[in-house]
Amino acid sequence: MLRTHTCGELRKSHVGQTVTISGWVQGVRDKGSLLWIDLRDRYGITQITIETENASKDITDIARSLGREFVISVTGKVAERYSKSDKIETGDVEINPEKIVVLNPAITPPFTIEDETDGGDDIRMKYRYLDLRRNTVRKNIELRHRMAIETRNYLDKLNFLEVETPVLIKSTPEGARDFVVPSRMNPGEFYALPQSPQTFKQLLMVGGFDRYYQIVKCFRDEDLRADRQPEFTQIDCEMAFVEQEDVLNTFEGLVRHLFKSVKGVDIPTLSRMTYADAMKNYGNDKPDIRFEMKFVELNEVVKGQNFKVFDDAGLVVGICAKGAAEYTRKQLDELTEFVKRPQVGATGMVYARYNADGTLKSSVDKFYNEEELKKWATAFNAQPGDLILILAGDEHKTRKALSELRLEMGNRLGLRDKNTFACHWVIDFPMFEYNEEDGRLYAMHHPFTSPKPEDIELLNSNPGTVRANAYDMVINGVEIGGGSIRISNKKLQSQIFDLLGFTKEDAQAQFGFLMNAFEFGAPPHGGLAFGFDRLCSLFGGSESIRDFIAFPKNNSGRDVMIDSPSPIAQAQLDELAIAIKK
Ligand code: AMO
Repeated sequence: MLRTHTCGELRKSHVGQTVTISGWVQGVRDKGSLLWIDLRDRYGITQITIETENASKDITDIARSLGREFVISVTGKVAERYSKSDKIETGDVEINPEKIVVLNPAITPPFTIEDETDGGDDIRMKYRYLDLRRNTVRKNIELRHRMAIETRNYLDKLNFLEVETPVLIKSTPEGARDFVVPSRMNPGEFYALPQSPQTFKQLLMVGGFDRYYQIVKCFRDEDLRADRQPEFTQIDCEMAFVEQEDVLNTFEGLVRHLFKSVKGVDIPTLSRMTYADAMKNYGNDKPDIRFEMKFVELNEVVKGQNFKVFDDAGLVVGICAKGAAEYTRKQLDELTEFVKRPQVGATGMVYARYNADGTLKSSVDKFYNEEELKKWATAFNAQPGDLILILAGDEHKTRKALSELRLEMGNRLGLRDKNTFACHWVIDFPMFEYNEEDGRLYAMHHPFTSPKPEDIELLNSNPGTVRANAYDMVINGVEIGGGSIRISNKKLQSQIFDLLGFTKEDAQAQFGFLMNAFEFGAPPHGGLAFGFDRLCSLFGGSESIRDFIAFPKNNSGRDVMIDSPSPIAQAQLDELAIAIKK
């Protein structure tokens, strides 16, 4: 080994020992008679101190030739420092070197390798290996490692087997777009990279594996956001002989174990909310319940006062922001601008201040006198000092817009502390969602999800109202995981494909392997998958999952470090029988 200790290891107890440490030069300070080198590795920083008058010329010369990020090895005696530092764990000691070897010089890095770096996003991604040397980035990857280990510990104790499923699979039309891989040996034919190992884990249940998990890469060609990467990782799980309750309990246990073992936080039993309630009260199927601010519907309260916007609206709905009555005109204008942004989509916002002196003032005083406004306040259960914000319009759009406004108010009022964790289940999702553009039903979760037994009758008469045995785990307004109890019967699976608009032939061609397997004795089964990157970023207090992926893609799906995707040679294209349209 080129070291006896790491750069984070030496303490007072080592004083007097001769040691060798290796690492990267964080910095050199030269005061003439004294010269310091800060040497860094993954474990910490150790100070090397050279008294130039007493040290050999060799050592002083080498020390003076060092630049940032040189890789060196230092052998010397550990000494107690005169001026100690409580900023680093090795701050009580230093090394007086007897030998310094330059293992590899380094050119000047394009950004400083410090916790607060001067490097922008693009440059840090291009030189990600340098970014990885920074404490903040390394700590995120270490957290990810710890999460994976604790996940395995928990699931292993419960008899889950980690099984690898294939990466070259078959393209299917459901879900997001597939990434495809051409097959040289089968010209004109393509594999697809898995969007998830869904069908394979179900086949493992048919294969008698009983309890499966895998920390697995999934690939989806979809628009990217802070919480979406084209390749991401799931903790993918499946269990046989279970009902929804068993799955919820098992994986609630996993998340509580992770919070306890990784963060030392005790999470109370997860509450459950139906999809219908989530939409009604928060306009969102993944509500952030760190704060209340529930929707209050006002159609009955506000209509019939000649205010056209409310009278014509399908839904008038609002929220009450506690203690925000003192918001200035400027702040209220900002909120109006916020809701009018295309991403939010409201046409405007009505507000009413319930002033501390008990008076009520609204932005629509022309139509609503104080007596009417009192009715509003009652509907919201508002107190003096509160601010009422109301949106109106088409029901679906208005709920969605108010949901955004609620989160914005949560942010503005400091109600979304990243060190507070509100975890809950959203259950009873609808089986299908109707797409107006192509006039067909789509599976809300995926086509393998079973309907609630009591709703099966409705599949024929009113499929849009059928509820599924499907559930999501939501933490702080982020969909951390989701799953369902599966269909394990060919007839029902085939009926679902019919409803989703598959012809019998298409369904057989795409999913015949699964439906056939169901005929050979499929146990009842169900499971879920967690978004591992999202879980890590939530634990690490960041909104961006990129910070928790060693080599992430940028928002255009590019890896700027290796410059991918990239064109391939004509010969390679020919071999794959692919013609590029110019
Ligand atoms: P689903 O599609 O809901 O379910 O995915 C499960 C979880 O994966 C995470 N996730 C993502 N994370 C980062 N980038 C992405 N592009 C991305 N897409 C999804 C989310 C999500 O909750 N096979 C089913 C699970 C099952 O039914 O068992 C599935 O994949 O946190």
